[in-house]
Amino acid sequence: MSISQQVLLRDAMRRLNLTRDVFATRIGVKRRALDSWLLPESSQEFRRMPEVVGRFVTEIVENDTLMEKYAQSAQSGPLRDRIAVNGRHQLLSVDQFTRESVEDLFRVADLMQPIARRQKVSRVLEGAVLANLFFEASTRTRVSFGAAFCRLGGSVCDTTGFTFSSMAKGESIYDTSRVISGYVDAMVVRHPEEGSVAEFARATNIPVVNGGDGPGEHPSQALLDLYTILTEFSRLGKLLDGSHIVLTGDLKYGRTVHSLIKLLSLYRGLKFTLISPPGLEMPDHIIEQAGARGHDIIQTHSLKDGLPGADVIYTTRVQKERFSAEEQVEGYTEDFQINKAVIDAYCDNDVIVMHPLPRDSREGAHDLSVDLNEDSRLAIFRQTDNGIPVRMAIFAVLMGVEGQIQHSMRDATWSPPSHIGPDDSVFHGLD
Ligand code: NCD
Repeated sequence: MSISQQVLLRDAMRRLNLTRDVFATRIGVKRRALDSWLLPESSQEFRRMPEVVGRFVTEIVENDTLMEKYAQSAQSGPLRDRIAVNGRHQLLSVDQFTRESVEDLFRVADLMQPIARRQKVSRVLEGAVLANLFFEASTRTRVSFGAAFCRLGGSVCDTTGFTFSSMAKGESIYDTSRVISGYVDAMVVRHPEEGSVAEFARATNIPVVNGGDGPGEHPSQALLDLYTILTEFSRLGKLLDGSHIVLTGDLKYGRTVHSLIKLLSLYRGLKFTLISPPGLEMPDHIIEQAGARGHDIIQTHSLKDGLPGADVIYTTRVQKERFSAEEQVEGYTEDFQINKAVIDAYCDNDVIVMHPLPRDSREGAHDLSVDLNEDSRLAIFRQTDNGIPVRMAIFAVLMGVEGQIQHSMRDATWSPPSHIGPDDSVFHGLD
């Protein structure tokens, strides 16, 4: 079975690094026709792409890919080997990726979309068991990793917190990891200490995924964030190279922004504006890593100075649970809240607003405001939805089954609602 036209086209635009408008011109078709070929087949506006266009696109991509392959012969081989850590198939840090390998992973995520949208089902991981070991609070990361594994046909065992785990009896990370490896085929681990998930990973040969190690990294979140930015930019006709990304909030302890800035740095000529309350600035070593790739990095404490010209505003919760006893930072005052008035005052209509969630919606919290909920610039639920195809892709790649996905798909026996959320705008999740 050949790949779907949507996967072929999205992959082609990403590999060739072209906006939809430029890509449409390059293959000699109207932008509207291209848009209709990219829609899911269930959409009324969907149109089948003429076969001759498909052949033409394949030819262009193959030519470009061939050139790329010659240039990077060292990078060939299965994706899981190219991103491996000491020969092991694990995902611990975004540092494991190059721009090419990240885009290869997104090609697999695109393949997963019909399953994530419940049009198709797959049992490619039938019989495999995942352990979700979460020693810190989590809702979306734990459930979406679990759901992703189940949607590939596997099953999931969960543990949450220290209180009911043997670590409360003084068991070492090594022993826990080795024991669990005898029970399951993959592990996702979240733990409050930086570097702890790497310690779990050293004690086993089964795939381990870092679901957040204290203030360290959160690679799967950064991958789904980048996937979201690329998907949103495709709809808006923008390229990531040369764009302006604003990161706001707790940049000191927020692991999502630590992973995200490193991953975005794989692209070219970005402008990063880092806006934090005083005392919660991004750690120097992360700024240096991004700066070494030639990006423009500006730090400020003011939304008014930092927001103008932004293509993406990525805002985060203040991680009070990570503050040391001496830290007196109050966190957000209202001067740091991203809300409709601020966006209307300083930003263009095509900005996108993201947040890894959870946001603090309690009275007086000043996290991302709910007054943007019906504004299509707010991408937070499109972002969370993308967690499923991206995490499915991570499992498929680490377990080496990505090549079997296409063949394994069957029609789903039920139909989900066309819009999952009552406030979802028309394009929500559609392209
Ligand atoms: C984040 C985390 O746990 O790092 N949440 C998530 O996984 N989406 C952000 C946070 O807790 O503020």
